Amino acid sequence: MKQTIITLQNKKKSGEKITMLTAYDYSMARLCAEAGCDMLLVGDSLGMVMLGYPDTVSVTMDDMIHHTRAVSRGCGDAFLVADMPFMSYRTGMRDALVNAARLMAEGRCQAVKIEGGSELCDLVRQLKLGGIPVVGHLGLTPQSVNTLGGYKVQAKEEEAAVRLLRDAKALDEAGVMGIVLECVPRELARLVSEEISCFTIGIGAGPDCDGQVLVLQDMLSMYSEFRPKFVQSFADVGAAIQDGVRAYCAAVQDGTFPDDSHSFTMDKAILEKIAAEYTAHEK
Ligand code: KIV
Repeated sequence: MKQTIITLQNKKKSGEKITMLTAYDYSMARLCAEAGCDMLLVGDSLGMVMLGYPDTVSVTMDDMIHHTRAVSRGCGDAFLVADMPFMSYRTGMRDALVNAARLMAEGRCQAVKIEGGSELCDLVRQLKLGGIPVVGHLGLTPQSVNTLGGYKVQAKEEEAAVRLLRDAKALDEAGVMGIVLECVPRELARLVSEEISCFTIGIGAGPDCDGQVLVLQDMLSMYSEFRPKFVQSFADVGAAIQDGVRAYCAAVQDGTFPDDSHSFTMDKAILEKIAAEYTAHEK
């Protein structure tokens, strides 16, 4: 069944957990969607995972559209969300609307995700009016890594926790379809999930959110640069890939690949004619 805003909201109501993973290309999107993942996120984490940057800051609208368009072709029944990249929604309402519209129309996602609190409520309302569903993102917001001073747990103290709760309520009232809560204490994530009507998706926010998201390459052990505490490895795909590559290199080097079963043949008479007429001729 195709996931929509309504089916996802119904999951919150019935207590069924929502599953979300990042995806950045067609083949991975297909594998995740066919395996039953409810939502796919073209995260700007593609800056690190796919493009090798140290953070998400250099990711552009064009990068996001390129990857979102590829994922959209493979996302099947999964609901597709794409990140608005760094500063693409912070230089004025018009820029933000134009960029979000590009991500929807050219990237073919079904919602956009933006990082930040109540200061984004007007934008959320305008996007919704224009037919663009929005997912919020609170707690550790990676686009602000330079102002946050690193990738750390957020909102542990009273003032920051109250601010996060108020931001979540404000975004909910403004009309976001859901909120990603990243790297916040599990107790706070639970409180937020109980207090707002839209669903919460946790990453490093404990088990009581309405759903969970992880970066695909993290949970498949394909990306070894950085392993946050909240990641669990569900399969060692990185090691499986390296085993496969080593086996391929060894087979090419020792001549066991390719063999007859991988080769095409031609008519013997034609080969003999070519050998006689051309190779002899050239000698
Ligand atoms: O960019 C991303 O992958 C994200 C998730 C970590 C939620 O925003």
